[in-house]
Amino acid sequence: MGLTGVILGSGLNRFSEKITNPEILLQDDTGFHKRRIIKGTINGKPVVVFEGRSHFYEGYTCGQVFQNVNKALELGVRDLIITNAAGGVNLTFQVSDLMLITSHIDLMNRRTFLPNSICYNHTSLNKILTLAKDCNIKLRRGAYAAFSGPSYETKSEINLLRKIGADAVGMSTIPEILYAKQNGINVTGISCITNLLRVSPNGKTEHSEVVDAGERAYPNFSKLLIEIVSNS
Ligand code: HPA
Repeated sequence: MGLTGVILGSGLNRFSEKITNPEILLQDDTGFHKRRIIKGTINGKPVVVFEGRSHFYEGYTCGQVFQNVNKALELGVRDLIITNAAGGVNLTFQVSDLMLITSHIDLMNRRTFLPNSICYNHTSLNKILTLAKDCNIKLRRGAYAAFSGPSYETKSEINLLRKIGADAVGMSTIPEILYAKQNGINVTGISCITNLLRVSPNGKTEHSEVVDAGERAYPNFSKLLIEIVSNS
């Protein structure tokens, strides 16, 4: 049976509680985002879950940013679900919505020779959308734009994002999606909308708000992930 990997975004670490017979492969509390890698099963399916990731804005190199994907490769992961906390740009989105990443806008300039279209395979995307629909889980779809961070977006950047067709924005995931795909792993990207980007005088984003919304999205998030893992 193929091993499925799950990389958890900010505020989404609780998903690890769903692992049966957990075995901790790594624990590292030194970075801004504490990291753990836990192996086990979910509904009888072998999984490895990655809590925390390293970002370029923390001064890390490619080797460090890709360490979760490299570990996934070493362990033989076939399907990798990469999740993140993201700001909602699409005006119809609500806090705690989940969004399947169906395309991206690379504002980090992490371009590769890989044709971007192959990252978002229609058959795989449709399979997940159908799964969510059948299980009554509200799942949005859209384009994820990534800035390098670490600051949140200015009002002008929010205006720009809306004009260029971004549905959500964050500071991660695209490099990992590209790197995993380049190395032959099937990848799915899921954003949890933790705040809404509105051009209002007090439209300010705080990290604590992002983590709280991740917690609130948890029931739907874990339900969706369990379905995807069980059907991968
Ligand atoms: N911007 C960038 N990254 C984020 C945001 C945001 O508004 N929310 C969560 N991660």
